[in-house]
Amino acid sequence: MNRPLAIVTRALPDGWLDTLEGHCELVVGPADPGGWCEATWSRLPEATGILAMLTEPIDAAVLARAPMLRVVSNMAVGVDNIDVAACHARGIAIGHTPGVLTEATADLTMALVLAWSRRVVEAAADVRAGAWRTWSPTGWLGRDLAGARLGLVGFGKIARAVARRAQGFGMHVCYSRRSAGVDHAGATRVDLVTLLATSDIVSVHVPLSEQTRGLVGREALARMMPHALLVNTARGPIVGREALLDALVHGRIGGAALDVTDPEPLPPDDPLLRLPNVLVLPHIGSATSGTRRAMAELACANLIAGLTRQSLPHAIPRPS
Ligand code: DGY
Repeated sequence: MNRPLAIVTRALPDGWLDTLEGHCELVVGPADPGGWCEATWSRLPEATGILAMLTEPIDAAVLARAPMLRVVSNMAVGVDNIDVAACHARGIAIGHTPGVLTEATADLTMALVLAWSRRVVEAAADVRAGAWRTWSPTGWLGRDLAGARLGLVGFGKIARAVARRAQGFGMHVCYSRRSAGVDHAGATRVDLVTLLATSDIVSVHVPLSEQTRGLVGREALARMMPHALLVNTARGPIVGREALLDALVHGRIGGAALDVTDPEPLPPDDPLLRLPNVLVLPHIGSATSGTRRAMAELACANLIAGLTRQSLPHAIPRPS
């Protein structure tokens, strides 16, 4: 019997796709750079499934080219690269990888908070450049985390994992959330306006959607305190690009520590990269080998379920 064809858009390390063996014929794209290439694009008309990364859009052009498609399995928790409504309208199941990247992403959020607050990157660069002369009572002064207030915008799994860590550092944690959900001992729920106006550090943890695009824009940034730090490990477009630059350049906020940007990557001459109070990382929130492997395995499980018309272990729910 003919096995269904599945496209894996980026090559992954040996072993990460082992569970797919026997379930489908595979066409695998190159490891880097992301995006559709001739090898994957040309086989779309025969594809029953796609295992995609966040670098490959699953948009109208892809869907039009893939009439047999039954499942899109994203190796990411975010699905903003996928036209979710169009997939659902066609009965195409969408899988994603929540849970397995929670701890790694929360760790990286704290790494950004710590690195920015204690000026780790600049201080290390100075040492490397041979510019460190002596211990100084006023050298590289940073900010205390103990006693500082952390405001979490959104309160899903990752935000709650950040809350646990921050409380271990003696921080006061508050959060804002639009819908009902799980609360967290010791963290106070407040409205977004209060959170922005009272937090020393504001950290963004909502998915990118039409409702959250530009959520942290000019108005939100204007509510933040002049010393406050904005942290984003969610998606770049949740923060208004021009508004952020303006707020940083004019000292309306203290700084930004970003694992995600708009666009990704930023062009090398982007003004954000020249500001001393900005720390930018290359979208590495989930980048530990254990986490990425777990994401790949979950993405395989979603793919196999979709190929065989079973319910996906982690599906984006269809509107009822
Ligand atoms: C996700 O899973 O959405 C992350 O951004 C990937 O690291």
